[in-house]
Amino acid sequence: MNILAIESSCDETSASVLVNGHIRSNVIATQLIHEQYGGVVPELASRAHQQHILPVVERALADANLSKKALSAVAFTRGPGLLGSLLVGASFAKALALGLNIPLIEVNHMQAHVLAHFIENPKPAFPFLCLTVSGGHTQIVRVDGPLNMTVIGQTMDDAVGEAFDKSAKLLGLPYPGGPLVDKYAKAGNPLAFRFPMSEMPNLDFSFSGIKTAILYFLRDRTKANPGFIEENMADICASIQHTLVQMLLTKLKRAARETGIREIAIAGGVSANSGLRTALTQLGESLGWKVYIPRFEYCTDNAAMIAIAAQFKYEQGDFTAQTVSPMPRMEL
Ligand code: KG4
Ligand code: ZN
Repeated sequence: MNILAIESSCDETSASVLVNGHIRSNVIATQLIHEQYGGVVPELASRAHQQHILPVVERALADANLSKKALSAVAFTRGPGLLGSLLVGASFAKALALGLNIPLIEVNHMQAHVLAHFIENPKPAFPFLCLTVSGGHTQIVRVDGPLNMTVIGQTMDDAVGEAFDKSAKLLGLPYPGGPLVDKYAKAGNPLAFRFPMSEMPNLDFSFSGIKTAILYFLRDRTKANPGFIEENMADICASIQHTLVQMLLTKLKRAARETGIREIAIAGGVSANSGLRTALTQLGESLGWKVYIPRFEYCTDNAAMIAIAAQFKYEQGDFTAQTVSPMPRMEL
């Protein structure tokens, strides 16, 4: 079974080749153009996808040492994501599958983030809980089988990745700021400043309040001392990161307690955060959880996770008709 997978939901153009259950290549072209605008510009993202897609796919096939003719199926991200970006990947995948006369497989991007755990060992056992944290989503997912997932908690407003990026923007850091907050936080004191954690009932999250709290905090401090941010960058970043990580782990603990599940995974771009990785590992040790954290490469957007998700669908004969169109708001 040889699957070519394409991911183009946001600002990374990626292609991956999976051969008999193993990822043979995973090529990712990041779009640097958005940095100067402080966020992803949808129109520019779709144009960049159009420029990148052919070379990225050719490179993925070359790295895997496989010819197009040897492919058994073509997979692509149907949603959720930006419509223009999704259209590029979907159209390319449809045309390729049609030309080669092989099956087409649509993949849900959020399902793929969870299934990234099946690329390498150790793999979580079912049922497990997955905290999926990215620039667009914050979800606690109960996973009962590869294609059997239920969202049991989610954000009511901003995603946690957005909270990282917006906080970074307030600090004058370039987009995407999440990795930079992580970098500065390493040298800072996480308890230097305190920000209020919003209290949501059940397993849901809210991150819009903390963004506002940080805005007012910085406004007041810089009024008193214009050099405040520069002088305290590490402590501010460490405190913001600590607050966001604690908000995530509080709900994860509650979800584990309520479901009795002790197999715990994290996925999505924010699972690359070193503060979250360390805190989750320590929490897991103290509570007797088995914790699964993907390799960095498989945390942020990539086509290898689309390929592994497509493999599960291929095995079930779950193919997609050529009439398919992207779904920007696709549910899990
Ligand atoms: O999953 P992803 O690559 O794309 C989406 O589907 O959104 O996630 C991107 C998000 C961005 O908000 C980015 O700032 C955040 O993940 N991110 C991080 C780190 N690496 C990526 N946030 C905090 N710490 C990091 N190390
Ligand atoms: Zn993603």
